[in-house]
Amino acid sequence: MHIVRIKGTTAAEIAGSVRDQVASGELAPQAGLPPVRALAAELGVNRNTVALAYRRLVEAGVAETRGRGGTVVAAVPQLAREGVGAGGDCVDLASGNPDPSLLPDILAAARSGSYSRPLYGAPALDAGLDAWARADFAEDVDHAFRTLVTHGAVDATERLLNAHLTRGDLVAVEDPCFLASIGTLRLSGYRSAPVRVDGAGMRPDALRAALEAGARAVVCTPRAHNPTGAGLTEERAADLRAILTEHPQVLVIEDDHFSAVSARPYHRVTPPSSARWALVRSVSKFLGPDLRLALVAADADTTARLEARLSAGTTWVSHLLQHTARELLMDPRVHELHERAREFYARRSALLVGRLRAHGIDVPYQPDGLNVWVELDVDGRATVAALARRGWAVRPGHLFAPDPAAHQGAIRITSSTVTEPQAEEFAAELAEVVAELRSTASTADAASTADAATGPPPSRPGH
Ligand SMILES: Cc1ncc(COP(=O)(O)O)c(C=O)c1O
Repeated sequence: MHIVRIKGTTAAEIAGSVRDQVASGELAPQAGLPPVRALAAELGVNRNTVALAYRRLVEAGVAETRGRGGTVVAAVPQLAREGVGAGGDCVDLASGNPDPSLLPDILAAARSGSYSRPLYGAPALDAGLDAWARADFAEDVDHAFRTLVTHGAVDATERLLNAHLTRGDLVAVEDPCFLASIGTLRLSGYRSAPVRVDGAGMRPDALRAALEAGARAVVCTPRAHNPTGAGLTEERAADLRAILTEHPQVLVIEDDHFSAVSARPYHRVTPPSSARWALVRSVSKFLGPDLRLALVAADADTTARLEARLSAGTTWVSHLLQHTARELLMDPRVHELHERAREFYARRSALLVGRLRAHGIDVPYQPDGLNVWVELDVDGRATVAALARRGWAVRPGHLFAPDPAAHQGAIRITSSTVTEPQAEEFAAELAEVVAELRSTASTADAASTADAATGPPPSRPGH
């Protein structure tokens, strides 16, 4: 009954044959591989041999298991990204972007100061930027660390995970979670262990459960959590640290992406006993995402692994970008701008939360950062679609769920550029949309209850 011509008598040969067929296009993405039993019979091999071949293909990311649906050829994952904003004339409360008017002039900074055109062989780090980073990290890290620069936080997280983990490893991530982390996990073949977040960040019981389930890495946002805006309190950070102390080999990545413009202090999650850790500070939110630059403090072994990956890949982060970041970070006017940005972002999210509450939408705590997360008792996708028809773009909560079945009733609203009239108008319209969806749902419920009460139509005699 065979559809594909898979050959081989060993697991390696069978897996190789499948890979050849995927490469030639004979097996298309999502095509089902033959059932293990059938292929084993056809090739005259033990079932375990085929099962092993399929397992290797899954581990290599060539195939994926669908439970009872068998094993299928993996497709290139479709990943949700930040920055997807308003289509048409919608007001953009979806993009997750910083307010461009609160970012400094990058071009002017690139032209200022001295830039020496480094050639191959030059040190990877700009000395001035490195000195700034060391002083910044020294305020928050009280044990030995080394510094380096990456192409942003997402790049740092991916390289850090790849430096220490292998496909199939379990990674504890916040639930809900930053979109790019979900994408990184999927692309690299890691499994996610979702750790529920409340107003004070990762919940200790959930982190403990993830670690006990075998998580080999934890990615934690200490403040301005995206999408919820949660920030660790001192007590919560201490609780998480205590739990992580029991797992010194687990890689701890702290993604402090909102550092300079956060309304909250940084509370450290990494215990001094952690053997593998990194504190990542992207400049995207306060110097601009186009610098593609993040500063990283990490233990010596992790830094060496990260450096090795950088030099084998993009070699170094352009000194032109490092120079520009250094000029900006050392400029007192940029620090004044950051103070303004911190106030503006806090004021705008408070404004939006205030208007939402005034219209009866429950926002459980005051968020920090660029977004407000709302959990509704109606469908998030339907809410997003109804808001789009009224001219508002926001994002549905399920996109931020490590387990895509979760957060079906949530939406994320970007508050970074919201004005007072927009906040009022949006909150009023969201309340209307929710009321409409509730009444549609209760009408549908009433209809199905009536159907259940009357039962199926009686079958006619003789049929
Ligand atoms: C949690 C989190 N980390 C990091 C970033 C920034 O990443 P990058 O430095 O790669 O621009 C963002 C941007 O939205 C974010 O929300």
